[in-house]
Amino acid sequence: MSVNKEVKRVTTHTLQKMKEQGENISMLTAYDYSFATVIDAAGIDVILVGDSASNVMAGHETTLPITLDQMIYHAASVVRGAQRCLVVVDLPFGAYQGNTKEALNSTIRIMKETGAHAIKLEGGVEIVDSVKRIVSAGVPVMGHLGLTPQSIYKFGTYTVRAKEEAEAAKLKEDALLLQEAGCFALVLEKIPAALAKEVTESLHIPTIGIGAGPHCNGQVLVMHDMLGLNQGFKPRFLRQYLDMYSQVKTAVGQYIADVKSGDFPNEKEQY
Ligand code: KIV
Repeated sequence: MSVNKEVKRVTTHTLQKMKEQGENISMLTAYDYSFATVIDAAGIDVILVGDSASNVMAGHETTLPITLDQMIYHAASVVRGAQRCLVVVDLPFGAYQGNTKEALNSTIRIMKETGAHAIKLEGGVEIVDSVKRIVSAGVPVMGHLGLTPQSIYKFGTYTVRAKEEAEAAKLKEDALLLQEAGCFALVLEKIPAALAKEVTESLHIPTIGIGAGPHCNGQVLVMHDMLGLNQGFKPRFLRQYLDMYSQVKTAVGQYIADVKSGDFPNEKEQY
């Protein structure tokens, strides 16, 4: 990766300062070099190389099938395109649940082979020892609570989590445990806005919400969803900024028509 020395890199400390100063953190997913370049140039604070690549890049129904090698390929591509933002990489399902050593080994592979700056994993008390081990090896860790898609078969549905008191209480405890274990930030996915507010106010580290209301310290969306590439996926929390599916389809349709008619290439488009 070529390093542009004039660009000041966003770090985990930058995010902490943003929380303290009341500046919201912007985060989007990306999985490849070209989109990472555009998103970074637009000024995003954090790119998450999410295991949602399993869905939007590979067409799987869940995030479970994506492998560590595949995540490393996506993350290394993103890092080559991101000059300014912090790049966080998801540890995929099966790469950390076994034990703390497996979690650390997977993290080391990501850090060495991609050049990314931090990792994210899902869960609370169940993975807190892994968080401690990774942090003690010097790697920043982002936590992820609420709807944790790697546990979809336990939940059974993608509906809002922690509406019941018992699950909300566990989530609040888990958030504090993850903070104590050394996480630099937490993703809160699909939980009631009031609960996200309470958790955000109880922590000194930033929270980044997806379907968790406006009181988190930042927001994250899956890039393909907010650009309208993921046709038919319109959950209530999603704001769609572009209808890219239709725009790309129209452009490709025009190209096909131009090729068929012989209009492309014209005199100026040849040697
Ligand atoms: O994989 C992903 O895209 C994520 C976000 C939804 C937070 O974990």
